Amino acid sequence: MSADDSGASARGAETGDLVDPTVQIDEGAIDAALRPKHLAEFVGQTRVREQLGLVLSAAYARGSAPDHVLLSGPPGLGKTTLAMIIAAEINQPLRISSGPAIQHAGDLAAVLSSLTEGEVLFLDEIHRMARPAEEMLYLAMEDFRVDVIVGKGPGATAIPLDLPPFTLVGATTRAGLLPGPLRDRFGFTAHLDFYEPAELTSILVRSAELLEVPLEPDGAVEIAGRSRGTPRVANRLLRRVRDFAEVRGNGIVDLATAKAALTIYDVDGLGLDRLDRSVLEALVLKFGGGPVGLSTLAVAVAEERETVEEVAEPYLVRAGLLARTARGRIATPAAWQHLGMAQPTGGAAHASLFDPTEETDPTDGTD
Ligand SMILES: Nc1ncnc2c1ncn2[C@@H]1O[C@H](COP(=O)(O)OP(=O)(O)OP(=O)(O)O)[C@@H](O)[C@H]1O
Ligand SMILES: [Mg+2]
Repeated sequence: MSADDSGASARGAETGDLVDPTVQIDEGAIDAALRPKHLAEFVGQTRVREQLGLVLSAAYARGSAPDHVLLSGPPGLGKTTLAMIIAAEINQPLRISSGPAIQHAGDLAAVLSSLTEGEVLFLDEIHRMARPAEEMLYLAMEDFRVDVIVGKGPGATAIPLDLPPFTLVGATTRAGLLPGPLRDRFGFTAHLDFYEPAELTSILVRSAELLEVPLEPDGAVEIAGRSRGTPRVANRLLRRVRDFAEVRGNGIVDLATAKAALTIYDVDGLGLDRLDRSVLEALVLKFGGGPVGLSTLAVAVAEERETVEEVAEPYLVRAGLLARTARGRIATPAAWQHLGMAQPTGGAAHASLFDPTEETDPTDGTD
């Protein structure tokens, strides 16, 4: 994978999109304050929470390091939060690094050899780690050992180095990109899905308490409905609506305030962001609703293929606006409706909704 695929985060930072789940610019301190610290505070993802709770409690009771955990899912759904929770629940320090920071096996060896017993190592964006480091990680995960290569060429020797037991927590927005051998070495894999509006409402109520924002229940529901299924977006919208309430209103965030504020900030009824909308519009306006291949669609919106696939599509699919088929991406009738356009009857797009050859692996290119 090329080094320029950081486009996902860079793009949001430039445009400052309010509903872009990848933007983390102004969020450092506030994000930290809003992050749930324990599993019990973590809202939603019920199954993952229950399963993870069992893995951690059992390991803790045995006094051993829990199995390695892989967290996958779109940006802003709580992967980093869960990694921190894992360390907190088993009362161990957390070491944080990321795939892009590990470009040589030596980088990984340095991190691994400095781990203390039981420590949790969080590798964010693990799918972007360099290949030689990946191979070193296999051995470390399985046998708690690394082979440190000393010297170069024919005289090079591998010095085996034992590691203390540790727990690796990997996070990725692209589980499909992880090589099989790496995926198989995780004892527990959790896929995070978009949150239900009711869950986002609870998250908002909790955040409002922490930020001391007077949030009315109907205001919370309105913001939740436009949060793109994403806690990070919900928290950001709450802060923007609070700004509006303080400047233009009486500080209280109710339904009317939330609506007025979100209109000013140009957040539509489904919370689609600029990229989501441009993908949908390109699909409908330029390609008559599709089917169109992912690469062509990405070029049409002047974005990286990965950005369209990882950042925009998961939510568009979830919202029932876009479908991935063997012949390419198509706009659903709901997409036409959302854009306020009439769908041509009997069009190709409609027919291919029922395409029997529907892709099983939508990450495949279709062009
Ligand atoms: N289940 C949850 N309950 C409450 N708040 C949450 C939950 N999940 C996420 N959040 C909030 O959303 C913010 C974003 O979550 P987090 O940083 O963990 O996402 P991420 O999956 O790591 O995203 P990325 O892929 O961009 O790194 C956190 O600061 C936290 O406040
Ligand atoms: Mg993260």
